Amino acid sequence: MARITHGIGCSHIPVLGYAHDHGKDGDDYFKPAFAGFDWTREWIMAPESRPDVVILVYNDHASAFDMKVIPTFAIGCGERYTPADEGFGPRPVPVVEGHPDLAWHIAQSLVLDEFDTTIINEMEVDHGLTVPLTMMFGDVDKWPVKVIPLAVNVVTYPPPSGNRCWALGEAISRAVSSFPEDLKVQIWGTGGMSHQLQGPRAGLINKEWDNRFLDGLTGEGQDLRHIPHIEYLRETGSEGIEMVMWLIMRGALGKSTRALHRHYHVPVSNTALGHIVLEPVDPTVPPSRTLEGSNPNA
Ligand code: DHB
Ligand code: FE
Repeated sequence: MARITHGIGCSHIPVLGYAHDHGKDGDDYFKPAFAGFDWTREWIMAPESRPDVVILVYNDHASAFDMKVIPTFAIGCGERYTPADEGFGPRPVPVVEGHPDLAWHIAQSLVLDEFDTTIINEMEVDHGLTVPLTMMFGDVDKWPVKVIPLAVNVVTYPPPSGNRCWALGEAISRAVSSFPEDLKVQIWGTGGMSHQLQGPRAGLINKEWDNRFLDGLTGEGQDLRHIPHIEYLRETGSEGIEMVMWLIMRGALGKSTRALHRHYHVPVSNTALGHIVLEPVDPTVPPSRTLEGSNPNA
């Protein structure tokens, strides 16, 4: 049986991809940002923790989607995804290999579970997906895991609610645990933390709020799923809403979690860098549906 072993939260700040690609990881400005991932880079390649597949919850920044098509949730069922050109040429990182069998299984399971996701067979992936891979795996010729991209619209209003994201995570966990192959699967929630890239409040960072959010990801508490959009906007800036993606990861880990590692650093570009590694307290129990209503397909 496949199972979700761990969840990881991680910002996707593009300048960290640039710094890594240009050998600047050790520069005074970037060193503390990268150093907070040293623990994870070692842990994630250890045989007992190394995943076979990562479900990488991320957002596209008008690279694969634009105003023509805006899926709220979209799962990548393709064989591979090439890095997008975001204006300076594609990043020199490996092509991302998918896991179509598991991805199609999750897509089917989600839709029958009443989470109607868009299915993508072909797309390019931008810094939202490739920067977290770099932070976790560093400089590699080939990514050491298969990746199932799960794209969430947090760019164009309306993004999904935190509550819906949490419930989607629960459904993803049920989908994974009904896949017959013996696979270790991680789920990553990416983006955030507090940041605003434009307007008079550009550069806004809210360390207290971000750290309360990191606190809320551990244990049994479910308060985070009820944070309204307006609070993200007011307290964490116009792009802080990316953090709803971390709630998909948290929902997938079930009733209770413990943190194995945590890192928070500012400044990095305009954004607060956050990172956490979470373990479900009972990985053998996939979360049940906590949305109201009955499901005739269940
Ligand atoms: C920055 C952060 C983002 O999340 C993003 O998508 C683009 C830029 C930044 O801090 O520079
Ligand atoms: Fe972003």
